[in-house]
Amino acid sequence: QKDGYEHFMLKEIHEQPDALRHTISPRVKNGLPDWSGDGLPKDFFSRFERIQIVACGTAMHAGMIGKTIIEKLARIPVEVDIASEFRYRDPILTGNTLVIIVSQSGETADSLAALRLAKQMELSTLAIVNVAGSSIAREAEHVLYTFAGPEISVASTKAYSVQISLLYLIAFTLGQEKGLLSEEQVRVLTRQLFASAEAVRGALRLQERIEMSAKSLAGAEHLFFLGRGLDYALACEGSLKLKEVSYVHCEAYAAGELKHGTISLITEGVPVIALCTQTALLPKMLSNIKETTARGAKVFVIAKQGETISQDVADTVLLLDDFDDLFMPFPAVTVLQLIAYFTARQRGCDIDKPRNLAKSVTVE
Ligand code: M6R
Repeated sequence: QKDGYEHFMLKEIHEQPDALRHTISPRVKNGLPDWSGDGLPKDFFSRFERIQIVACGTAMHAGMIGKTIIEKLARIPVEVDIASEFRYRDPILTGNTLVIIVSQSGETADSLAALRLAKQMELSTLAIVNVAGSSIAREAEHVLYTFAGPEISVASTKAYSVQISLLYLIAFTLGQEKGLLSEEQVRVLTRQLFASAEAVRGALRLQERIEMSAKSLAGAEHLFFLGRGLDYALACEGSLKLKEVSYVHCEAYAAGELKHGTISLITEGVPVIALCTQTALLPKMLSNIKETTARGAKVFVIAKQGETISQDVADTVLLLDDFDDLFMPFPAVTVLQLIAYFTARQRGCDIDKPRNLAKSVTVE
């Protein structure tokens, strides 16, 4: 069942290129997004002026990526909420809001309650779900299934990648329907989305180097993930994954926020994983990294081939194949998943079933 892999987590990380293709292909016809197979009415997305994404854990982090991409390409406001907060905060939502619930299992209690609340408010609901026939899939007005196949490891990996792939396709569709993207631009973006599967393969080729780097992370007591923009959303996911499976305490920080308190925790030898996949934000990231190296941090940089990262700012540099900034979350999250996996392995943790955790959280 594990197909020769030592753990389901590693197997599922490696399944991402196929999972992506299986999820994206049915929604593309003649090179353009097409939702007819999902039963969405024509021009479904164009009627909405706002989007509210609600989810938990990794699925919520996928929502953070979705927010950035949709707002960038379609210029409509997107809010992302943790389901357990959303349901009790008496949210202000108007009739032209689409509520998107993201859930691998389709059974997460808080996400299901958030869906029910949205329905009570008579809002349109769309679920992005992996498990067919699950409660969220049954109760949402519309469902988009991700085709990742069963995810056995408690740590969610391939589900995240396919969830974001659908949020990208929604962004392309909205961008075109709102008149902000031409058909030709959407074709190019859709081709790049398909190419993200290959970019993930490129990241998987770094596995050996990541395994080596994880050796020096395994002894850490605290660790920081830093990023800006899409890289901040990725930092949140990288930090959750590492905590969940390796039990190393870590925090994700928007790099610009360091100076507002957290930098006091950076001392000699503290590892910092700095995500630098966004070319436009690289100079800012490099100056944040220098602030940490000046205080003795041991810095691991994840960047793109072709970027110049000097030896004096980073102890380790992992370079991913060059790819459009917008699509870097696909290979970058793969690196973060591998970092979590190999750190946990080095520490001898029960990787597929971390302590105190269940695959699906069906109670509040
Ligand atoms: O099944 P769901 O996607 O609704 O689950 C949400 C979270 O419980 C889940 O993503 C959790 O955070 C993962 N174990 C993280 O790896």
